[in-house]
Amino acid sequence: MTPLESARSLLNASIIEYRGEPVGTVAAMDPSGLVADNYQDCFVRDFAASALVFLSQGETAIVRNFLTVVMELHQRRHAAEGHRLNRGVMPASFRVVHEKGKETIRADFGDRAIGRVTPVDSILWWLLLLDLYRSSSGDAELSAGDDFQCTIREILEMLMGEGFEEFPTLLVPDGAFMIDRRMGVYGHPLEVQILFYGALSAVDDLLLDTPENQLIRELAVKRRQSLRSYIRMYYWLDLSRLNEIHRFNNEEFGHDSVNVFNVYPESIPDWLEEWLPGDCGYLVGNIGPGRMDFRFFAAGNLLAVLFGVVYRQQAEHIIGLYEARWDELVGAAPLKICYPALEGKEWRLLTGSDPKNVAWSYHNGGSWPALLYSLVGAALSVNRRDLAGRALQQAEVALARDNWPEYYDGRSGRLIGRRANLCQVWSAAGYLYAHHVYHKGQLKKSESGNWALQERQEN
Ligand code: GLC
Repeated sequence: MTPLESARSLLNASIIEYRGEPVGTVAAMDPSGLVADNYQDCFVRDFAASALVFLSQGETAIVRNFLTVVMELHQRRHAAEGHRLNRGVMPASFRVVHEKGKETIRADFGDRAIGRVTPVDSILWWLLLLDLYRSSSGDAELSAGDDFQCTIREILEMLMGEGFEEFPTLLVPDGAFMIDRRMGVYGHPLEVQILFYGALSAVDDLLLDTPENQLIRELAVKRRQSLRSYIRMYYWLDLSRLNEIHRFNNEEFGHDSVNVFNVYPESIPDWLEEWLPGDCGYLVGNIGPGRMDFRFFAAGNLLAVLFGVVYRQQAEHIIGLYEARWDELVGAAPLKICYPALEGKEWRLLTGSDPKNVAWSYHNGGSWPALLYSLVGAALSVNRRDLAGRALQQAEVALARDNWPEYYDGRSGRLIGRRANLCQVWSAAGYLYAHHVYHKGQLKKSESGNWALQERQEN
């Protein structure tokens, strides 16, 4: 079997049906049968990779059904006692259960998840997928339906309601996205902010231009603009910005302060100066009062390129960093989820001594094939076909041979993850979509400014 055939057959085998219709894909199908209970669910974020593959092949029904099922599940959610229901929350995952001869769907809103983490990114992925479904399938009716319009408004009202801060970013708890464990990623993690930007862009297309929607649409446009300026200004790091931070003054009060978050230069980690090439840059992992997380997180940076959050030159510098630091950021099996790993005391304090997240494993500097398509897409979008091809080729060799592991361990990603599932569906789907994008076209901006596949003209 070729890698393509093997990935395709895994994806097909992973499809979940409800009432005889395909509605999603399970997270993993480990042949040992030892797959952890929660991986039998369809995760919203994992399904995004499957959806990209299905849509690119004209198989739109499964995506449509998924979007509808997730929306219906969100309508059935109950608030915890003593809470007023936030109507815009989406489940992290769901599964079809058969009980007493009846078929039902059971959702997890973080109330069953390990560590009881809140899946903020599900809300954003749902909006992004709805937009992608609309533009790929040409079906504008689904999102125009009353129930979808109402859900989109509920989401926006929740996301844009006033919190305790005045920043345009979203304040979230630890583990609110792909890194769904304690990893010091609370506050304003980059990935969530970039998904938020993408979701706000999607809303432009999705919300009908009606008097009822007018105010919320205007707010979404303003929030998107201020979020983008904020990310470009405060999350961006290159050598010249590092020099500024290195010489920052502290304890500045008032509107004219330069070091607005009161970041102490002493917090710049030792590895950074040597590691950051002069002509490259990236978006840092997190910003908040007295805090800049200098770690490099792949998904946030690559999606920022794909969604046009960063300037073109910044996008080139991010991909340039991949080229310059290929061994550390791509390694043997694409792609490092973050760099560098937390070690020693930092690992103990920030992960809560989590053995799954020891240095250079899993979320803590492990390598995730599911991220491959975002690197391939981002590299192509700045005309670096050479790098896209290189990543794809490396993945092709490793992933099919190793039976689509969830993640790899080690500084260079040469070891199959100690506790990783095999037959992890988004590893296969991520590869399939990367392959499709590389051979069939480019990821270009859609009307909303988010990614869309533009078929290559054969000549
Ligand atoms: C792990 C990952 C999460 C993923 C889930 C299912 O919990 O951290 O991102 O959605 O597995 O694959």
